[in-house]
Amino acid sequence: MSNDVETKKSKKQDNLVPIYIMGKRYDVPSSLTIQKAMEYAGYQLVRGCGCRGGICGACGTVYRFPNSYRIEVGLACQTVVEPDMYIAQLPFFPGNKAEYDIEKLEPTGATIAKYYPEIYKCVGCGTCTRSCPMDIDVMDYISRAIRGDIEGTAKLSFDCVMCGLCAARCPAEEVQYNIAILARRLYGRHIAKRASHVQKAVEYVEQGRFKKGIEQLKKMSVEELKEIYNARETEPHMGPEEWTPADKNNVIIE
Ligand code: SF4
Ligand code: SF4
Ligand code: FES
Repeated sequence: MSNDVETKKSKKQDNLVPIYIMGKRYDVPSSLTIQKAMEYAGYQLVRGCGCRGGICGACGTVYRFPNSYRIEVGLACQTVVEPDMYIAQLPFFPGNKAEYDIEKLEPTGATIAKYYPEIYKCVGCGTCTRSCPMDIDVMDYISRAIRGDIEGTAKLSFDCVMCGLCAARCPAEEVQYNIAILARRLYGRHIAKRASHVQKAVEYVEQGRFKKGIEQLKKMSVEELKEIYNARETEPHMGPEEWTPADKNNVIIE
């Protein structure tokens, strides 16, 4: 059997597909994500790689197929390779980032426009929404921010992983994810209802209520810690709504 035939046979067996990374061809198993295919091809990912699970947004990637005018985008850790993908990674997208003291800001559209006046340049093209790997309606949250709907912007953008793909493609040079994070900070600091049990917990910490318990834990060996951790009382899966543990020493009661 000639070498050519052997190579073709082994490629078929492994189901290898050709992809192009930074313009160079590699044959990689068709089941791999772009991230794993890059490693398979010999790249060591130091930048542009974090959680590997679609959460951190570090692996924004652009790709294109031959004879297609379309630029496609995705997260390298979530997108499976396809034959003849031409791939380039965006390990970081430089975006306009305002500095502010959230305590001193009013939760209004005027505040957002003050720090990101380019928001008014949005032409409503929807490219940001089509680019978002988290399926967020980015255009909608930008239009809500323009209208001063801070709560709507904050809630709609909640799943943003800051990958920068929307900003990379925006013809109006918006940095949508930084606008959204300002809205979420305004919402969290000035609009959302305070969680009274968290405030209570802070008071308890300040009063030193958990000090004795922490000191006891610090004196224990790793084995003892494992033992009490494994024996701890946990909430039953099908418990009542108002469940509290039998040991009330470290429970925050409102
Ligand atoms: S890509 Fe830019 S201009 Fe187009 S809708 Fe989104 S924010 Fe507006
Ligand atoms: S809104 Fe933009 S930065 Fe956030 S996940 Fe979607 S594309 Fe990425
Ligand atoms: S590595 Fe974190 S989203 Fe891909």
